[in-house]
Amino acid sequence: MDDALNAAPARKKVVLLGSTGSIGRSTLEVARLLPERIELVGLAANGSVDALAAQVRETGVKRVALCDTTKVAALRALVPADVTILAGPEGLAELASMEEADTVLIAIVGTAGLQPALAAIEAGKHLAVASKEILVMAGEIVTAAAEAKGVKLLPVDSEHNAIFQCLDGHRGGEKEVSRLILTASGGPFRTWPADRLADVTLAQALKHPTWEMGRKITIDSATLFNKGLEMIEARWLFGIGMERIDVVVHPQSIVHSMVEFIDGSVLAQMSKTDMCFPIQYALTWPERVAGGLQPLDFGKLAKLDFEEPRHADFPALGLARQAGLTGGTLPAVFNAANEIAVDAFIDGKIGFTDIWRVVGETMHSHHTAPASSLEAVIEADAWARRTASSFAGVAELSL
Ligand SMILES: NC(=O)c1ccc[n+]([C@@H]2O[C@H](COP(=O)([O-])OP(=O)(O)OC[C@H]3O[C@@H](n4cnc5c(N)ncnc54)[C@H](OP(=O)(O)O)[C@@H]3O)[C@@H](O)[C@H]2O)c1
Repeated sequence: MDDALNAAPARKKVVLLGSTGSIGRSTLEVARLLPERIELVGLAANGSVDALAAQVRETGVKRVALCDTTKVAALRALVPADVTILAGPEGLAELASMEEADTVLIAIVGTAGLQPALAAIEAGKHLAVASKEILVMAGEIVTAAAEAKGVKLLPVDSEHNAIFQCLDGHRGGEKEVSRLILTASGGPFRTWPADRLADVTLAQALKHPTWEMGRKITIDSATLFNKGLEMIEARWLFGIGMERIDVVVHPQSIVHSMVEFIDGSVLAQMSKTDMCFPIQYALTWPERVAGGLQPLDFGKLAKLDFEEPRHADFPALGLARQAGLTGGTLPAVFNAANEIAVDAFIDGKIGFTDIWRVVGETMHSHHTAPASSLEAVIEADAWARRTASSFAGVAELSL
């Protein structure tokens, strides 16, 4: 028999940025299930030193990065002496470029993952992307850099991973695709009357009906900004115009997204609502691997519902379409304004429906410029944070 066929499958060496978060913890779970396929070689977080130290002890990684430099000494005391600790945003970028790694999974919430993502691409690493915000802010730059370096962008977001799976092996190319259809759970307020939305509390917004996720994405799911961000993310990942990206509400979150082809056929990808599925596919691609994940039991699925989003009551989708169609720096502004508004809502400074207002007002005040340079995008992002903070009536919360 051919030796090449008998050879053990390649073991991916993965750097995981945002290891202490929801996606980070699911990635560790996938790595635990597939030790012969996935080896974690670097971990990074912002400041959760106890959780990071426990992950270092479990995985045996020898290199970590911590963005919050004030906590490095505390981490030093908790990990073995032969573990290298890199610090600050530069430390994250250095970890993302480490020689030994072949893939970097970015699961940092918000846009702090952008510089490490670009460093990873520059160093020739494949990028598994959970952090949708970086593609919304700088999709043109990230995709051009990946193409120039010949590295792959592997979607981890369940919707984009579903589309990636539906398109995988499809030889007809983009011209045979008629629409990408992203599914949305509709969030906890899907059926609420519009006049009750202004009174939504933080606790209510943090109760997602189908997914367990970090705070920011859970609020984004409640406003539907998450789906708006995903529309723009899809535009960059799949090179499909915004006008061909649609959203359908599917409360059970079993169909993760669909591709409609020009002959009218639709391919959908389904699985349980568990982020381990898309993470595993992204990290074992181009192969499918038997792991410990359980398939759907169709006998127990009562029904699958689909409905139109309530565009007028949840304006995030319209704002996203406007940002994506206009392009240039407007998507970066859309994203940054949303980050500020979500922080302000979490801090109790603004109401739930103010999130839409703050993002809309910030977008309408912006003079869109081309987004082909990183400087232009960073400048638009900083402008949007200042402007959104003022529309939210808060001191600027973060840069
Ligand atoms: N959760 C999901 O199911 C899901 C699904 C699809 C896509 N996503 C996307 O994946 C990303 C992560 O979401 P999540 O739900 O996992 O968030 P999360 O639970 O809030 O975790 C965020 C992670 O990012 C780290 N982090 C934050 N700021 C950082 C910085 N400046 N430098 C380094 N690390 C930093 C945090 O570290 P500390 O713990 O130290 O603060 C933590 O590890 C988001 O972009 C989200 O939209 C998430």
